[in-house]
Amino acid sequence: MAAKIIPVSPFDLIVFGASGDLAQRKILPALYYRLVAGQIPPQSRIIGTARSDWDSAAFRQKVRDSLEKYVPESRRDAAAVERFLERLFYIPLDVKGDRGWAELADLVNTDPNPVRAFYLSVAPSLFGTIASQLSARGLRTPDSRIVVEKPFGHDLASAQELNAQLAHCFREDQIYRIDHYLGKETVQNLMALRFANSLLEPVWNAQHVDHIQITVAESIGVEGRGGYYDGAGAMRDMVQNHLMQMLCLTAMEPPARFAANDVRDEKLKVIRSLEDVPLSDIVRGQYRAGADGADYRTDAGNPDSLTESFIALKVKVSNWRWAGVPFYLRTGKRLRARMSEIIVVFKDPPHAIFPHPERRHNSNSLIIRLQPDEAITMHMNIKEPGQGGFRLTEVPLDMSFADTLDKGEEMADAYERLLMDVIRGDQTLFMRGDEVEAAWRWADPIIARWQEAEDIPEPYDAGGSGPDGALALLHRDNRRWRAIEA
Ligand code: BG6
Repeated sequence: MAAKIIPVSPFDLIVFGASGDLAQRKILPALYYRLVAGQIPPQSRIIGTARSDWDSAAFRQKVRDSLEKYVPESRRDAAAVERFLERLFYIPLDVKGDRGWAELADLVNTDPNPVRAFYLSVAPSLFGTIASQLSARGLRTPDSRIVVEKPFGHDLASAQELNAQLAHCFREDQIYRIDHYLGKETVQNLMALRFANSLLEPVWNAQHVDHIQITVAESIGVEGRGGYYDGAGAMRDMVQNHLMQMLCLTAMEPPARFAANDVRDEKLKVIRSLEDVPLSDIVRGQYRAGADGADYRTDAGNPDSLTESFIALKVKVSNWRWAGVPFYLRTGKRLRARMSEIIVVFKDPPHAIFPHPERRHNSNSLIIRLQPDEAITMHMNIKEPGQGGFRLTEVPLDMSFADTLDKGEEMADAYERLLMDVIRGDQTLFMRGDEVEAAWRWADPIIARWQEAEDIPEPYDAGGSGPDGALALLHRDNRRWRAIEA
């Protein structure tokens, strides 16, 4: 099954913070992959800006080095790399001052391409300044787009402030707030699974679903981002955005159309239906030192830190479809494996007719695996084959995507999809301002609650499954987490 590539319109993509880690590690390699795929028209330009005193040649050399580092050798093609580098330009620029703006305006306003997008790969404190500069310096066109990265605020007030700063210069339909989890193939597939099939919808509700688990486990620690992370913690860094988006797509009602505002309206309704979470339904943890690394407080550079590197929550979606169905969310760093999954566990049949009902079989479950090895698997019970009594055994019905892809075809990185959606002008996989604010409106009182209680995170072993309290959160409801394994 060959992927169909629909070329986008020729574009000028201006990347602020082009020398930074995100641009070099994710954005530029993603654009290179799209060029190799034939999606980027040759006249398009990618214009990097940053404070570094480079010219375009030096920038191209930097990007050449980054492609060597971040693009696997099997996907590096010397001729394609040259074609890609020819599309790159660089202008040293001071976002707060005068330097570089006139040169940038000259470059993009002379012979402009049909689509113009500004990608702000910079600290959120600069969003407002850059947006105002873009309009003051005549760079903003009526349909140009502005793309911003997380963290989008650290609470409701700061998110509202960022929204106001952007809204001052750009319409909402020009603003693309990235949550890279929405670009992951399986997250999008969750919508296809739910809304392109009639099989699941009748059982996708409180009558048939026992509970839902959403796990984003990481094996890495804070990796040199201790300063940022210690001020955020797992709740702000992962739950308010990535896990919230996964929850929304799992729980939302079918939108009338697969269009940006229809989808986002439905997600917003889910966030608004979330109940407040009491302290008794929250488990926070911090990793201890392990054989291959220091403890969280050392990594974060804060010996007294009370920030969580792990969190598990029991969340209730208080609406007609989900009343009484717990959503258990968990995410953490330095866990046993890198694994992200959504698991829908169905209720058992109402009456057990087979022998040995005390030997509990597993409940049916649908496992939507985002990474690694994207797949959707339905676990069902069948009779164990062979003679000697009637025993049940569980089999997975496997819908691994790898089998449906052409040999050699690669699963696109989230940024490839999202960047092309920006150029196409499709906001479906981006967060709307009211959605981000609603997520903070839910998260803020929960964070305030544990801060007021001076809650101390429970230590857990690096390389394990998280604190014991997280296991107890489900045991107490007579349930258990699916194991964290790659
Ligand atoms: C980022 C968080 O948004 O997502 C990081 O800030 C986290 O702390 C990362 O490591 C996880 O993304 P992925 O795609 O590797 O699962």
